[in-house]
Amino acid sequence: MRAIDGEGPYARRADVPALADCYFYHTMDLAQHGLVAGEWDLRGRIHAYLGHEPVAGKRVLEVGTASGFVCFEMERDGAEVVAYDLSSATPWDVVPYAALNVCEILADRAAHIARMNNAWWLARDAFGSAARVVYGSVYDIPATIGEVDLCTFGAVLLHVRDPLGALQSAAKLRPRTIIVTELARRRRFPLLPERPSQRRSALFVPNGATSEPVETWWSFTPDSIANLLAIAGYRTTRVVRHAQQYRGRTLPMFTVVADRA
Ligand SMILES: C[S@@+](CC[C@H](N)C(=O)[O-])C[C@H]1O[C@@H](n2cnc3c(N)ncnc32)[C@H](O)[C@@H]1O
Repeated sequence: MRAIDGEGPYARRADVPALADCYFYHTMDLAQHGLVAGEWDLRGRIHAYLGHEPVAGKRVLEVGTASGFVCFEMERDGAEVVAYDLSSATPWDVVPYAALNVCEILADRAAHIARMNNAWWLARDAFGSAARVVYGSVYDIPATIGEVDLCTFGAVLLHVRDPLGALQSAAKLRPRTIIVTELARRRRFPLLPERPSQRRSALFVPNGATSEPVETWWSFTPDSIANLLAIAGYRTTRVVRHAQQYRGRTLPMFTVVADRA
């Protein structure tokens, strides 16, 4: 599939941000800057993170790129990647507890997102990448991006109030395949067998009593993601379980790969 040339919805940036103005969500080895430490270290496990789906020769929309490790790895594997993310101009879908000062929280998030956007541009420069980026809400992915072959949602759906709306928004670009990666639910009582209804259920995380957490709406199971994908018109072809490094801890994750039905 061919890329779209020209301005379109793509962000432009003339300067390269200073390292001090960046926030790295991902640990990355950036040639002239050396190794930068991030919250998540996906190095060496990116293929499992993407459900072992081949990306070479594909046009990919990577939703929620953060500092871009997944984007630049897919590009290295031969994909043409359009990254997508919030910017300081588009608010995070925070849980709007009435008891909290949501405006203050959004202002903090906006400053954080601006630093994360900076990290993406710095890494793009360091890798000599040709990836492009579009900024906006996941609910309003612009049709002017054009059709894509593949769309990835790495650890994004847990942060949005309407995960089905997010998938439907991406489905408008007619990807043949959608890949969703999420944190696996850690079972507190591993000796108890899981009931089928528990396997299907997404957990609504916000707690009205404590006003926590602010950034996370859902804890999914693979079945609950497959269910959302089916509603959006995608049939799950495989589920891959893997473990990833978060701040020095190993966390269980899963990836659902689904094709247009
Ligand atoms: C937890 S990070 C995951 C980063 C990367 N996809 C990965 O898998 O390593 C979530 C990303 O989703 C983006 N995001 C969260 N809510 C969003 C929304 N409503 N619209 C667009 N992007 C969103 C965040 O800005 C952030 O870049």
